[in-house]
Amino acid sequence: MKSDINEQYKIMEKIRNMNLNKNLKYTIYTMGCQLNENDSEKISGMLEQMGYTFTEEISDADFVCFNTCCVRENAEDKLFGKIGEMKRLKEEKGTIIAIGGCMMQEKHIVEKLKKSYPFVDIIFGTHTMQKLPEDIYNILKTRKRVEDIIDIDGEIYEGLPIKRSDNLKASVTIMYGCNNFCTYCIVPYVRGRERSRKVRDILLEIKELAKEGYKEITLLGQNVNSYDGGDGYKFSNLLRDVNRIDGIEKIRFISPHPKDFKDDVIDAIAECEKVSKIVHLPLQSGSTKVLKMMNRKYTREEYLELVEKMKKKIPNILFSTDIIVGFPEETEEDFLDTLEVVKKVNFEQVFMFIYSRRVGTPADKMENQIPEEVKHERFNRLKELVESQISVNNQKYIGTIQEVLVEGKSKTNENFLTGRTDSNKVVVFEGSEENMNKVVKLKIVSEHMWYLKGELE
Ligand code: SAH
Ligand code: SF4
Ligand code: F3S
Repeated sequence: MKSDINEQYKIMEKIRNMNLNKNLKYTIYTMGCQLNENDSEKISGMLEQMGYTFTEEISDADFVCFNTCCVRENAEDKLFGKIGEMKRLKEEKGTIIAIGGCMMQEKHIVEKLKKSYPFVDIIFGTHTMQKLPEDIYNILKTRKRVEDIIDIDGEIYEGLPIKRSDNLKASVTIMYGCNNFCTYCIVPYVRGRERSRKVRDILLEIKELAKEGYKEITLLGQNVNSYDGGDGYKFSNLLRDVNRIDGIEKIRFISPHPKDFKDDVIDAIAECEKVSKIVHLPLQSGSTKVLKMMNRKYTREEYLELVEKMKKKIPNILFSTDIIVGFPEETEEDFLDTLEVVKKVNFEQVFMFIYSRRVGTPADKMENQIPEEVKHERFNRLKELVESQISVNNQKYIGTIQEVLVEGKSKTNENFLTGRTDSNKVVVFEGSEENMNKVVKLKIVSEHMWYLKGELE
């Protein structure tokens, strides 16, 4: 709400005055998906508004923020390790420590934090992020720990300051939360139900980004193609409207759900020239039995039909996907079904995950959990297949001309620049300053598994 945000702006101003001439620094450690990264850009925006400047060095920081993810278990170990390391810093220089994000919406994690890491100053959730200035103000005034978490779906707040991490590509969150309750997934519990931003606010933000020189927009949400702008305005309408914004050259979106890929969305991708023709279509499993247990709401056949339909309607379309191996009750046969779909679709990119039990989700209570060694063995077989497909797919690029958005200098060689093709492949080429931040035409001359080499046309 506007009045709440105005209140936070007033508090930011107060803190800015308190911090004047102190040269205070912050650092932020982000885990998880692009939605969290986008939230971190807003957290950074608020901190800069309060007079903190960014540092990479945790030991230099006066304020350290962790923006957490809990989609898989390994994130927890990582976080607790990092916080453990903070204890000494806290004792030495009184660093303020704030932890926010998805993991803080899990009660057992917050309990553990409070018990084992009492030196943490602020714990905030996904629905209260915009109140960080108020939380910081309270800490500065009282030095008493602040816990600011609510369990009800947060409202959508517009107009937070934002410090973007890139000056060419920008992420724009179009919806929050998820209604799908895939049985393995914690996201609906920690992010709440689906809430779409207003069309007007989204378009305004993107027009502003175009004016500032941004060329590529990624529309973000847990289920972008169920975006609901009201009065029958759907995701396909949004794609068409963003496509009309001058200055924007490329539009990507992540993540859609196969069940919501209706014809209007497919037609919009086909007809909007700026919309990337690599589409992320999360498969999760190639076995209809497992898909049903996952509550994915499509069968193996429906998924493959959708792929075929999209290939027909959108020439040169490519797909990327997410796959989980080792879901409860996944048999060798089910796993082979997954490999079969991977072979058939020939994905450009596959994000592979080992099933991780999440407290509070239905799959955690299912019988016949798969032993760790079987999960790992399947993961390695999938990885082998995917890598062999990538190197064959890469061959197809050799000799072709690709339009590449140039992002910056190569980290290993000054004279080389890097960019990405429409299909999101990294290309390295010899170029000069004048090519920076532009779309250039490159002839691909060789492939190296994770990147291609090109020459200016
Ligand atoms: N909303 C998006 C992505 C959510 S999380 C979507 O539906 O595509 C990103 C990916 O993490 C998921 O697609 C899934 O492949 C993986 N994932 C989610 N929960 C998981 C779990 N418990 N174990 C392993 N992987 C998981
Ligand atoms: Fe999780 Fe499924 Fe929602 Fe994606 S669609 S966030 S996998 S519940
Ligand atoms: Fe993780 Fe939260 Fe994203 S759980 S994947 S950071 S929505």
